Amino acid sequence: KGNKLWGGRFVGNTDPIMEKFNSSISYDQRMWEADIKGSKAYVKALQKAGLVTQNEMEQILTGLDKVFDEWSKGEFKIKPGDEDVHTANERRLKELIGDPAGKLHTGRSRNDQVATDMRLWLRDAITTLKELALQLINTMVERAAAEIGILCPGYTHMQRAQPIRWSHWILSHAVAISRDVERLEDIRKRVNVMPLGRISINSMDATGQRDFVAEFLFWGSMCLTHLSKMAEDLILYSTKEFSFITLTDAYSTGSSLMPQKKNADSLELIRSKAGRVFGRCAGFLMTLKGLPSTYNKDLQEDKEAMFDTYDTVCAVLQVATGVISTLKVNQVTMESALSPDMLATDLAYHLVRKGMPFREAHSCAGKAVYIAETKNISLSKLTVEDLQTVSPLFDKDVLSVWDYMKSVEQYSAPGGTARSSITAQIEHFRTWLQAQ
Ligand code: ARG
Repeated sequence: KGNKLWGGRFVGNTDPIMEKFNSSISYDQRMWEADIKGSKAYVKALQKAGLVTQNEMEQILTGLDKVFDEWSKGEFKIKPGDEDVHTANERRLKELIGDPAGKLHTGRSRNDQVATDMRLWLRDAITTLKELALQLINTMVERAAAEIGILCPGYTHMQRAQPIRWSHWILSHAVAISRDVERLEDIRKRVNVMPLGRISINSMDATGQRDFVAEFLFWGSMCLTHLSKMAEDLILYSTKEFSFITLTDAYSTGSSLMPQKKNADSLELIRSKAGRVFGRCAGFLMTLKGLPSTYNKDLQEDKEAMFDTYDTVCAVLQVATGVISTLKVNQVTMESALSPDMLATDLAYHLVRKGMPFREAHSCAGKAVYIAETKNISLSKLTVEDLQTVSPLFDKDVLSVWDYMKSVEQYSAPGGTARSSITAQIEHFRTWLQAQ
């Protein structure tokens, strides 16, 4: 009632509790720019369709520019009755230019506006997110290039597996994030279809579907899941027990009780934000599930999920870039964490090169591991005689197996951990980054 856009058929007032419950201005004001852009395009279409005169159109455009100015200078005053950003902008336009403002809404609904505004807003958000993701990937790739000579243990099941290059680890995470960038580009195509303007194929679908929001929320969930995996590795590597890496002070915090502590809070928060964003995604899908066709007010819930996901992923990408670019790698600790048992596979390959089928070689190397364990010595300390009890194919040249660098260098196929493979991966990324 009163000055409400939809007040004509109402005689009673809205309960203040309902007023607050119904209002979205506190968060949807973030779309003020998209809302004005959308209205400017729309009034031009109205003029073409003969629904406003040239003069009315010009008044409306000038008025909208003033509203734009007020927002950009931080001078726009939200009034108590402003239910959402669309209402607020129209109310202000009317104050500025009077009656012609009332013609702007001919043939459109806020349902069209909100879907348009969100798509316009998300389009820009995608551009920013892509830039931040590319900065992170670039940081990782250059770090991998600079530290290509450093070896470290590779793990599966968190058990020591085989020696790898540290760069191989870094790049494995860069690849995942590069897929997130590609997914983002794919989402952009579907976001870039407008209920008003570049046109969607069906008006009921245009105003009622929010799959573009849901897929963005999934995108954020996947991207942060990747980063949480990376963060988890780094948290472990930063413990005193591992001491593979040291975080800079800039990305660590202390304990209020234990003076010696340096906690990897940056990485722990990165890890946690994946849960937060996934919650947004799951929550919004729950909202969508079971909704009837076209616009229902439930859809107003889309915006906080979208904004929060955007803010969270932006922050995480920036912090991750900061952490990766500043952490210190303790090469000596990393390399001294390598142990001969991690070359058990190489011991099997050694037999394979002498003609033994791999299954049999695997079993022989396993027996050698067992003997070393029972003797409580390292695998490389087994004598040739010890090894010959396992297979007569062993002789003195087995000593050449106990070389981590040589082990790493045999994996020169695409995707491998040899210097040449890592260099190829780095080159791939540099070219890919250029093309973005
Ligand atoms: N604030 C609303 C939203 O965010 C705009 C659309 C309202 N439309 C309506 N018919 N009540 O979704």
